[in-house]
Amino acid sequence: MSTNEGERSPRGPHHLGIIMDGNGRWAQARGLPRLAGHRAGTENIRRVLEACVEFGIKVLTIYAFSTENWGRPQDEVRGLMHILSEYIQREVSELHRNGVQLRHSGRLAGISDAMQEQIRDALELTKHNDRIILNVAFNYGGRAEIMDAVRRLLSDGIAPEQVDEALINRYLYTAGLPDPDLIVRTGGEMRISNFLIWQAAYAEYYATPTFWPDFDRDELLRALEAYAQRDRRFGLVKQPALSRS
Ligand code: IPE
Ligand code: IPE
Ligand code: MG
Repeated sequence: MSTNEGERSPRGPHHLGIIMDGNGRWAQARGLPRLAGHRAGTENIRRVLEACVEFGIKVLTIYAFSTENWGRPQDEVRGLMHILSEYIQREVSELHRNGVQLRHSGRLAGISDAMQEQIRDALELTKHNDRIILNVAFNYGGRAEIMDAVRRLLSDGIAPEQVDEALINRYLYTAGLPDPDLIVRTGGEMRISNFLIWQAAYAEYYATPTFWPDFDRDELLRALEAYAQRDRRFGLVKQPALSRS
């Protein structure tokens, strides 16, 4: 990974979220099966993660598999699970060597026992790393996350007057992570598809038609340049500069 990390983009996002979309269309355009697109997309994570370190991003959340994606044809779901499981097995020690802290956002229930174990081991191994957090949204749905949070806080006996935004944040899968500043979606769709619907309330959005397997460092730089031009107001009005007289 690059050594001049963090020197660029002083106004860059601290937490970047990416909806990695367009693997299927990338494959289709090449006359390949959809799984070839998922394979190429998974390979692309390394390149984009390295660019994030270079640009000083401290948290990268990638949307890898949604709660709704289980409804795809069985062969695709099975193939995707295989590719993702292979990816963890192959990459974890290198990620660890590079100071990457892995986090998982999503429901463990529903994931195979073998993969749950892989995930737990990877989180445990990398938990003290602090160069960048790679938060993998896997079996993730924003609505499922809010439901799970409500269920847990009710079963903890939380009283209504104790409920505030900070408390809800602590019950989400993303507890302890800052809100995303920028959400990038590849593949051209203009929707959020159940991704970080609570946390991204004031995130900036950026969409590119580029399919995820082709999204590279230069594309990321373009997204960061667009972000740097945004005026984030958080519902407030800008104070005019005080005139000196
Ligand atoms: C995104 O690519 C990866 C997952 C949803 C798992 P898609 O598989 O949605 O690709 P398109 O949108 O069909 O091209
Ligand atoms: C969003 O992409 C989910 C992931 C990238 C993992 P989808 O392809 O599932 O979203 P829709 O169906 O276009 O909304
Ligand atoms: Mg898609």
